[in-house]
Formats: sequence, structure tokens, C-alpha cells
Amino acid sequence: MAKGGVGKTTTAVNLAHGLAMQGKRVLLVDCDTQDQVAKFLGVKPAYGLYEFVTGRNGDGRPLAKMETIHRARENLWVLAGGIKLVELKHWLGEQPREQRHNLLGQSLVPKGDRLDFLIFDCAPGWDILSVNILMAVQEILCPVSLQAPALEGLKTFFGYLISAQKQNNALNLKYILPTLFDRRTRQSFDIYGRLKRLFTRQICHPIRYNVRLSEAPAHGKTIFEYDRQASGAQDYQKLTRRLIDDGIRAEQTPRFF
Ligand SMILES: Nc1ncnc2c1ncn2[C@@H]1O[C@H](COP(=O)(O)OP(=O)(O)OP(=O)(O)O)[C@@H](O)[C@H]1O
Ligand SMILES: [Mg+2]
Repeated sequence: MAKGGVGKTTTAVNLAHGLAMQGKRVLLVDCDTQDQVAKFLGVKPAYGLYEFVTGRNGDGRPLAKMETIHRARENLWVLAGGIKLVELKHWLGEQPREQRHNLLGQSLVPKGDRLDFLIFDCAPGWDILSVNILMAVQEILCPVSLQAPALEGLKTFFGYLISAQKQNNALNLKYILPTLFDRRTRQSFDIYGRLKRLFTRQICHPIRYNVRLSEAPAHGKTIFEYDRQASGAQDYQKLTRRLIDDGIRAEQTPRFF
């Protein structure tokens, strides 16, 4: 949902694999017509999110949901995106007005099968699919590039967020993830400093600029498979740890109803 090229897909894929390697069961949903998630993971799913939500393939043949989910790694499943999502957006737009923003959330209600994390990789921009995502989720992780005047993009995003929160009270901006951190540039330190002050609770350890992160997708590998020693692997490992620790803390926090 954040601006283009800030590391959303890089984060979604490496975080999802990081969690899966820690034994968490993860479903990664690609909500972008560019179909990058499957490419980054080097897999070729036959079906994806279009078929999952509509329950049909392109010829109108009914499909079971399980047929549309592709197992990409141990503990990691993928719902692919791609050009079919254009049709999915049309389909969503044709549904009754009172339902059309909630269909993704409704179709993802887990049926018995245990999942620990459901991660959506969003496309840049704002459309009926992004609205459906914001209605379906509780937590947002927002990557922010430290290499661009990123705070402008954040303002636009906050506008969307506030309007979505009116309909989904549970929606929470949980993490701000600084990306493309380059210690040779003052800009990186400036933006990071401002983000730290603005988002004391949400701020995460930054992901450094690391050429290995940009090479890995061409090999269909995550950073953990491509170069375990790279700074990118260390940084995404840290992020994985934070999410797991927050999950444990949330379970331990007493709840009073
Ligand atoms: N920390 C990093 N260091 C170096 N290169 C990176 C880093 N993070 C991402 N990249 C590279 O930057 C480019 C954009 O990253 P990515 O595709 O993850 O962004 P995105 O936000 O998903 O973009 P889009 O809005 O188009 O979906 C890719 O070529 C990726 O390999
Ligand atoms: Mg992307």
C-alpha cells in the first residue's frame, strides 16, 4: 500500500520465509498484478488469489480453495497474484455494495487448518483490493524507504488508514520498517531519526541497503537461501524475531473482559 519500490515484496517474502524457518505456518498472499511473490520464491503456481476468492478458474470451472494454494517451502504457502487480479477487482466491483469490501476477509476465514501468520503483499496505490485487505487484517507493517522523501507518501497512506479504521476498528499500524538504509548518506539518518521520534512504539530496526537482497529474487531464492551471511539476512532475521517475540508477549498478556 505504501509507495512503489520501498521493499514491500522483499519484506513480505523474506519475513514470511524467516517465520516459516522458525516453524511458524505462514500463508503469503500476493495482491499485486506484477506477480512478484511467486517469482521471488522461484515457484509457478497454477492458480492464485483470483481463483481462491471467486471459487472458479478462468473457464468458470469450480475449484476447491485448497487447489489454489501453492506450497512454496516447508511451512510456507502462497496465494499468487498476477494479471488475473485485474479480473478479480472487476468481480469485486460487481458484487453487492454492502459486501464488496469484505469478500476477501470472508473468504480467508480459516477452516480448521492452523495458520500462525497471514501476510499480504500489497500493490502500490489504492483500489478495491487494497480496501478489502484493510478490512480483512488487524496489523499493518509499513515499509518506509530511507532513500526518498518518504514522509510525503506516508501522509497519503495515513489518509487511507484513517478512513479504513472507521469500518475496521481492529486495524492497527503495528510496525514501521525503515528500508534501504544507507549509512553513507545523511538522508538515511535524517529520515530514520524522524521516524523514530514519530513512531516510538512501531519503529523497527532498519533494513540496510544490501545488494544481495536485490540479487536473490533473480535466483528464485530468499535471502536466507541465497546468502545466509549477508546483512540483509541478519536484518530480516531481526524482524522475524521481533514478530515472534511480540506474538509470545501478546499471548502472555492477561486479558480482562
Ligand atoms: N534493502 C535492500 N537493499 C537493496 N535492494 C533492495 C532492498 N530492498 C529491496 N531492494 C530492491 O529494490 C527493488 C524494489 O523492491 P521491492 O520489489 O521489494 O519493492 P516494492 O515496494 O514491493 O515495489 P512495488 O511497489 O513495485 O511492489 C527490488 O529490485 C529489490 O530487489
Ligand atoms: Mg511489490
